[in-house]
Amino acid sequence: MDLTSRDRFKRPEQVLITGAGGEVGHGLLHAFVDSGAGQVSTLDLAELPATHAPLVSNSYLGDIRDESLVAEIFGRNDIDEVYHLAALLSSAAEHAPAVAYDVNVTGSVGMIRQATQAAEERGRPILFFFPSSIAVYGFSDHGHKIESGAVDERVFHHPRTMYGCNKLAVENIGRYYALYHRRQGKKSAEFSGIDFRCLRFPGLISAVTQPTGGTSDFVPEMLHAAIRGEPYECFVRPDTRIPFMTMPDAIEATLQYTGAPVEQLTKSCYNVAAFSPSAEECAELVRHHYPSAKITFNVTPERQAIVDSWPAKVDCSAAERDWGFSPKHDLEKTFTEYIIPYFESQSGA
Ligand code: SER
Repeated sequence: MDLTSRDRFKRPEQVLITGAGGEVGHGLLHAFVDSGAGQVSTLDLAELPATHAPLVSNSYLGDIRDESLVAEIFGRNDIDEVYHLAALLSSAAEHAPAVAYDVNVTGSVGMIRQATQAAEERGRPILFFFPSSIAVYGFSDHGHKIESGAVDERVFHHPRTMYGCNKLAVENIGRYYALYHRRQGKKSAEFSGIDFRCLRFPGLISAVTQPTGGTSDFVPEMLHAAIRGEPYECFVRPDTRIPFMTMPDAIEATLQYTGAPVEQLTKSCYNVAAFSPSAEECAELVRHHYPSAKITFNVTPERQAIVDSWPAKVDCSAAERDWGFSPKHDLEKTFTEYIIPYFESQSGA
C-alpha cells in the first residue's frame, strides 16, 4: 500500500475502526499498520479473523449501539480518528429495514455524539470518517439515469433504499454536529468537536475479500466465482451500469482525504469512483482473463431496481481538485495490475 500522500500530511496516533472485520475495515487495518499508525482499536460484532488480531492494540467485541461500551472505548483510548464502517449494506437492509435504521442511523449518530463529547472533554478535535455511498442518489427512471451522465454531489438525493436513506441522513447529521459545535461561538483555535468527513463510495472490488449484503456485489461475485472455477448467475441485466473502484484505490483515497488539511476541503462529502462498466463489459473481461468462466444472467427484479436507481457515473472533480484524488486502476488495470498479480502471488506462481 502506497501511503506517500498520507505521510506528507500527518499520521494519527490512535485510531478506532468500527466494523473492522468487514471488507473496507480489512484494507484500512492493514494500511494503518503498514504506515506505522500508533495504536489501532477496533469494534466489531464478531471476533476479528486470527490474521487481524496481531495488527490491533485493543479489539472490542460488541455492538455500536451499546452506548456504555462506546463510552468505555473513548474513555480508555485517546482516539484521534474514528473510521465508522459498521453498517448493514443495501440488499441486507431491504430485508430488515427497521434493524438497518437502528444500526445505520441510530448507531452512527450515537458514535458521532460520543466522539463529539470525547473531543470536547479533551479539548482537541476528533476526525470522524464516514463511508457514504452512491446509494444516496436515486433515479426513478432508467432513461433519466443514463441521460444524466456523471452526477455531482449536490443533486438527485432521492434514495430508493433504506440503506441510501440511512447514509444520506448520517451525512447530514454528522455535518450538523461538526457545524453546530463550530457555531457555539468558539474561535477556530478553540474548536474541539468532530472534523466530519465522508466519501460516497461506488461498488468496491477486492481481490482479498468478498462483500456480503450489497447490491453492487455482482461484479466482485462474478470475478471470485471465476477464480474459484465456479459458474455464476448474475442478478442484474447485462446493460446495467454503475460506478466501481478497487479496494486499494478506495483505501488510498480514504487515507489521502482524511490526511488532507481541513483548509483544502470545500465539502464534507465527496464522490469517488474509477470506472463505470456495464455488467456485460465486466463479464467479457472476466471471460477474457479466465477463459473457463461461466457467467449467465438471471435478473432478480428487486435488486435490479436498486442498481437502476443508482447513477451510471459520478463526477469526482471536486475530490480531484481539493485533495488530489487519482485512482490507479481502470477496469483493465483492475485485472492486470491488481487481481491477477494478487492471485499469482497467493499461488506462488
Ligand atoms: N456497495 C454498496 C451496496 O451494494 C453500495 O455502496 O450496498
